[in-house]
Amino acid sequence: MDITGQTRICAIVADPVQQVKAPQLINAWVDKKCVNAVLVPMQVAPAELASWAQAMRGLKNLDGFIATVPHKIAMCDLCDEVSPAAALVGAVNIVRRDPDGRLIGHILDGEGFVAGLRRSNIALEGKRVMLCGAGGAANAIAFALMAAGVAALAIYNRTTAKAQELIDRLKPIYPSGELTLATDSPVGFDLIVNATSLGMSETDPLPFRAYQLVATQIVAEIIMKPALTPVLAVAQEKGCTVQFGLPMLECQIDLMADFMRLGQR
Ligand code: ATR
Repeated sequence: MDITGQTRICAIVADPVQQVKAPQLINAWVDKKCVNAVLVPMQVAPAELASWAQAMRGLKNLDGFIATVPHKIAMCDLCDEVSPAAALVGAVNIVRRDPDGRLIGHILDGEGFVAGLRRSNIALEGKRVMLCGAGGAANAIAFALMAAGVAALAIYNRTTAKAQELIDRLKPIYPSGELTLATDSPVGFDLIVNATSLGMSETDPLPFRAYQLVATQIVAEIIMKPALTPVLAVAQEKGCTVQFGLPMLECQIDLMADFMRLGQR
């Protein structure tokens, strides 16, 4: 698709941004659907996010943007309006710019993650799940896992208070659900999810004690690059079923484009 004066713009805002997969996926989607739009990566430091978001309000040919690490939580407060799901989670990963410049936030991480597992024929009903992380993505995934009918959700995070806060927000919505704090041990869980940012860099430590994994367990990752993160490499060695990070985003593309009304105006 040639870029012309009519081309609509959307963006992905992250820091760093070099590793993001959305430009390839969205631009391939745009080509396939013959939509006159382009997605561009934008690297913005946390301290500059508010002024960047303000500038985006005035960009009349911008349909919206994807917000990712480390901006999902901060961006939620910068939107003029957020969806009920984003309000519940306290984070956004997709923002639409309406023609009047208003920014409308929504989160699709949880829905995308669960859809990715289902696409891999991994059932969630009745499963005992350990979730590592309590940031924006982990929050969305926790709500989606509970909605998908897991039997128990145990949350482990470097900052324990954030894991406890997440449990406290889930409990009133799922009063009969088994919601607890986890340690860094995966023993006894059917599914272990890495929803931390640990694994983006080769030198990162493992997000939990992965050497305790056994072959009957499933390990799911949300990091897309590298595809084989250190924790998935250990899980594969142990014979576990592994779920890569990319399906979560692939399952969100149609929903994201639709939410931004990409190329529809
Ligand atoms: P995202 O939007 O992708 O969830 P985030 O909101 O910045 O990004 O959350 C990052 C998650 O990775 C958090 O759970 C964070 O733990 P803290 O809540 O303790 O900050 C986790 N994380 C990031 N760096 C980490 C590290 N070096 N060790 C352990 N956990 C880490």
